[in-house]
Formats: sequence, C-alpha cells, structure tokens
Amino acid sequence: MTELPTPDLIAVDAGGWGLTWAADSTGRLRQIGLGPEGHTAQLDVDAIWYPEAFPTWGGGDPFRAAPLRITHANGLTTTRLVVERVSRESINGSELVIVVCRDELVDLTVEHHLRTHPPSGILEQWVEIHHDQAEPITLADYDSIGPLLLTSESAEICHFGGGGWATEWAWNTELLTTGTKTLDSFGGVQPHLQRSPLLLVSPQGPSTESSGEVLGLSIVWGGNTRFALDVRRTWDTSDGLNLRLRAGANPVGAEYRLDPNERFVTPTVAWTWSSAGRATITERFHAWSRARVLRDPDRLRPLVVNNWEAVFFDFDHDRLVDLMDRTADLGADLFLLDDGWFGNNHPRNDDNAGLGDWEVNTSKLSGGLAGLADAAAERDIRFGIWLEPEMVNPESDLYEAHPDWIVRTEREPIEHRQQHYLDPLRPEVRDFEFGVFDQTLTPNPGISYVKWDANRPITDPGSEMLSQDQQSNIWIDHVWATWAVMADVARAHPEVELMLCASGGGRVDHGSLRWFHEFWTSDNTDPVVRARLQWACSMFFPASVMAAHVTRWGERPLDFACAVALSARFGFDLDLASLSSDELAVCRRAVAIARRTQPLVQHGRLHRLISPVEGDDTSRACLAYSAEDRLSAVVFAYQLEASTSQTPAVWFDGLEADRRYAVVESELGTTDDSMAATPAEALVVTGAELAGSDGRDSAPLNWTLEAPCTAIIWEITAIA
Ligand code: GLA
Repeated sequence: MTELPTPDLIAVDAGGWGLTWAADSTGRLRQIGLGPEGHTAQLDVDAIWYPEAFPTWGGGDPFRAAPLRITHANGLTTTRLVVERVSRESINGSELVIVVCRDELVDLTVEHHLRTHPPSGILEQWVEIHHDQAEPITLADYDSIGPLLLTSESAEICHFGGGGWATEWAWNTELLTTGTKTLDSFGGVQPHLQRSPLLLVSPQGPSTESSGEVLGLSIVWGGNTRFALDVRRTWDTSDGLNLRLRAGANPVGAEYRLDPNERFVTPTVAWTWSSAGRATITERFHAWSRARVLRDPDRLRPLVVNNWEAVFFDFDHDRLVDLMDRTADLGADLFLLDDGWFGNNHPRNDDNAGLGDWEVNTSKLSGGLAGLADAAAERDIRFGIWLEPEMVNPESDLYEAHPDWIVRTEREPIEHRQQHYLDPLRPEVRDFEFGVFDQTLTPNPGISYVKWDANRPITDPGSEMLSQDQQSNIWIDHVWATWAVMADVARAHPEVELMLCASGGGRVDHGSLRWFHEFWTSDNTDPVVRARLQWACSMFFPASVMAAHVTRWGERPLDFACAVALSARFGFDLDLASLSSDELAVCRRAVAIARRTQPLVQHGRLHRLISPVEGDDTSRACLAYSAEDRLSAVVFAYQLEASTSQTPAVWFDGLEADRRYAVVESELGTTDDSMAATPAEALVVTGAELAGSDGRDSAPLNWTLEAPCTAIIWEITAIA
C-alpha cells in the first residue's frame, strides 16, 4: 500500500449539512458521509467499502452510467482516477476545497472544486479537467456532481417544466422509482423554456414546507442541462434503495473535444440539504442568490410599464409619449419600449425583418431614442428599451453584410421565428453584440434599463471557429462566449438595470443571472397560471428578480391580475390608453399597494402557506412576506379556481408572538375609494394569534373568497 499525501478524511462543512470524502488504500475517492451530519462522518470500516464519490466510466462500477466518461487520445475508453492532493483555502469565511485526482495510466487531471457559503448553507461544486495527451481527448459525459444517496420506496422528486414556450415552471411531483430518470433540456439558447435547471429531491418520502429531508439543486448554467437519477434496489435491506444523482451540462450531442493543456470547467452545481422541509431550501437559495448571484441585491426594482402586450409593433413617437404620460400619471417608475423600434432599410414592423439593424427607425420615432428618453425625463419617469443582440433576421442589413456570422453547418440553416443565431465564438460577433449595447447606451444616458431577449434555439450546431472534429463543442462554448459578452456589458454600464429574457423564462438560471437584475419569468401572464408558476419559481429565486406584469392574458379580472403580479416584482404590460375608468382606478390602487408592499415582497422573507400545485385541492394559493425585523408583513390569498374542499384556515407564523399587529385588508377590486379599508378599521391581533400558537381554532385571517379569480391582500403592521 502506498502512503498517500492526503488527509484521511476530506470533510466539507457546507453550513447545516455537508459531506466527507476519503481516498481509499488504492487512491480511489470514496464518499464517507453526505447529509445533515455528512461532514462529521467517520470511517466505520475500511474506506474501500464505501461508495465512489464520483465514479468514472471503467472505474469501479460496470453496471451504471458514470458522471465522467472520456475517450482518451490513444483510443482508451476507460478512466481510473486516484487522489493526488487536497488543498483548502479560506476566503472571507467560506472555504474552497480542491481535490486533485490523476488517471493511473494516461495524462489526465480531474479536480473537484467545492466552495462553501456558510451563511446560506449552499455548496457550489464543479469539476475542472485538463490533460497533456498527444491529441485531444473526447469528453462524453461530464457531470459536475455524482453523489450516492440512500432513498426509500416513497422517495419523491419535484421538477419544473413543460413543453416549451409559455409553459415554464410547470410543477411536477413524482415518485422516484427504480430505473433511470433523465431530466434534460436542449436548444442551447433558451433551454429553460422546456425544463428548469432546478430540482428538489426528497430521499425519504414527501417533504412539506416545514418537514422532511429534502435536497435542492441548481445547475448554474445558461445552456442545456441534465439531471440523471439512477435508482437501484440494494440487496441487504427490505426497502432500501440507492440513488446515483448526476447533475451538470447536458452532454447529449455535445461531446467535447478537449485539446491538450486546455482546461474544461463544468458548470457549477449549487446544492443544499435540509432536514426541515422546503422552506429551508428556499431560505438558503434566496440568501445565496442575494449574496453570490444578484446584482445590486438591496436595490428596490422599479415599477415597470412595458409596451409589448399593449401595442406590439404598432406605435410611433406620439403613441409612446401618450403611454409615457399615462405611465407617469399612474405613478410607475419606468417605461420600457419593447421590440419594434429599430431598422430603416428593413423596418422591424413585425418579426420578419430588421433584427440586427440596431439603429432607430426614424419614420416611426422621429425624435430618436434621445427624444423618447427626454420625454420620459420630462415626465419624471425612467426609460428602458429592448435588445436582442444575439440574433439576426435574414431580411436585414446585418445579414446582407455578414451572412457568414450565423451558427450553421454546411446544410441550409433552419429559420426559427424568421431569425438566425449569431455565432458568439466569432470575436467580431462578440464585439458586435457588445457594440449593440454600447452604441445604444453611451449616446443615450437617459436609457437606464434594458431587456435582453433571445428568441430562438440553436438548430444547426456548427461554427467555423471550431475544427471539424470539434463542432459539438459549440454546445458548451456558446455559453461561455455569451457570458463573456454579458459580463462586459454589465461592467461597462454598471448603472443600467438589465432584465434577462429568452422567449419568456428561457434563460432562468443562477449563472446567467449574475449580470442581470431580474428576469422575465414567462410570457405566460394569465394570473391563474402565473400564481402557480411564481410559486414554483419562488423555491429557488427571490421575488425581486421575478418580473410579473399585469396583462390581459386569460381575460381575468384586472384586480385579480394585479393581486397576483403584486406578489413578485410588480409591473404592467397593458395598453393604458384602453383602460376603463374603473380599471384605471384598480391599477392606481395596485400601484399604491405596490409602493407599500414591494419592499417587503422584494426583500422580505417568503412564507408559502397554501399550495396551488400539490395536495387534493389546488384551487387556492396563499403566500406571505415578512420583514427581517418582524414588524410588518403582507399576505396574498388567491382563489384560482372553484374549490372542492372546505374554506382553509390561514395560519401565518412569521411575526413576534407577543406583539400586537394591525391587519388591513387591501381592497383592490372596489371601484369606490371610500370602500377601501382604512387603518382605523384594522383588525388587531398578536403574532401568536396569527400563527394559531395561542390555541385558538379560528384563524384571524378569514378566507372569504369563493369565486374563481378573486384575491385578498392583507397588510400587517406592528402597533407601536
Ligand atoms: C419575446 C419576449 C416578449 C417580447 C417579444 C418581442 O417573446 O418574451 O416579452 O419581448 O419577444 O418580440
């Protein structure tokens, strides 16, 4: 037995949970512990009897797919790693642990990087691979994590996604049965339309908000992702199962040819383990997002009025200024000009032409962008615009000048929404994309907000920047290249707020979000769908980044649509000129409520009280946000559909038990201002009464809703 220069146990305390690895006597990396006490695990038997921490194809387990599968330069298809060294470094209270492994036979280094964030309890984990073989090697599978978990027959997963556009965040709870379940996404540019790169795993059976073992995982990647859950029965227990959980970039169709001395870095997987249910998962992801992901996390996001669903492509300077008048009159912060403001030789009057030609359409907008920015400033509101810098319509000056700039192969490229995707691996394309921002923003300091959109997937994966045998590298390389442009834009224009959009929520991941202030959660703004969609999204993202605009989708009552949007980052996408006076009154009241409640919604602590996605009756939703000082809160109650169960009791345990609070019901729906509740009519209760911890059996927050598409908002304030 060779003496290894590694500590016996590699313990990683992730904050409230953790893991322990060790090199066995042959040098293989073993998983000694994982879970709430995972970082304090000790060896009970020789390390060789523990599961592999990150199996490789051809390593020790011939029966299962492995997180790492490589064809080496000499044609060898197996990889066998031994631990070479471990390094640990403390940086501002968090720890970076690097476990360096080398192949026994060929020149290959695989490094596991584990970075903790103790205040949140989120562990960031990724793998870095490099080699010095004579020729490139081919990475066929390259997951970021591959732990083994013991599970029970009733283990469950929750995953989020649907069939593409407007179906983001559809909630799916399923039993985790034996076999392999793969949750993957494709298309590269807007993969999260199909499937969120996020997952909840309850290894010991269903978890609730406040109970049960549950893991939350986020693949921090703006490209195709994959979770693979391989569940097997174990021979030695009656109901014991084990799960090999792999997560990372989706390698399907994306074999990566890695040149000697190049470094392949997998996406980070951010994950955590709670023994107290999903609320803890949410708290941890929100805390980590605020600390490690979000730009300007403490800045209150603006109340936006977008013109897209209001007028689509049908506008001119005067119509927009009229909408700005109404935006200012309503009391919103910012007017956002969406698609359709650019293109002269090929005017962008519909989605057939003009993409790529980012000069203002002077026949539509006589005063240019500066004229609109000035008009906004005169009305004391901010001005933002829409850009889609990565795309081109064939009918455009840009395409006529640079038909070779698009991602394509030697086949005739497929059009999608009559547009192509510019190849971000070309330096001139990256310069162009950065220039789209720079040349729009620099001369127009009045633009302080940009919606960055991307409205097609990759259909013809190929790049002239890659050699023939590296064409499939594009599925990985396009993400890094695009992120480089996003980073440059954020650096060059630090004060400009950015919204991330890709046909709705097609790029909603913790990686891309680093350069943005918020995302467009989905084009689906039907409030009944939205309440569920935001519920799912709230598992991992704070409401401050979840743009929620009131529209006409679903033709629901406007007060209900406002109530749903108010529980996330509030705004409008309505033709304000077409509102009846009653509707305008509703919108005004919603803005007033937003002014009072958005600080709580965006920065408070989330409490999910009644689920619209799980249980026997999913017709209702109820959620609350409480202030950190527990002096105020806001509760949102939604009757989405007709109920099949009894009126629920709303217990809310987020405030000080002994303190007295005034509860005011905000009347959004009434058209008579005098009907709105006043603080004088407030119900006065203690925190204990609201929580039901005083032993009472009727909840003070009284669910009076019956009709579908109705809502109550309770604003709760401590009495001095
Ligand atoms: C995408 C976005 C929409 C809108 C349109 C404009 O679909 O999701 O919000 O910006 O593009 O073409």
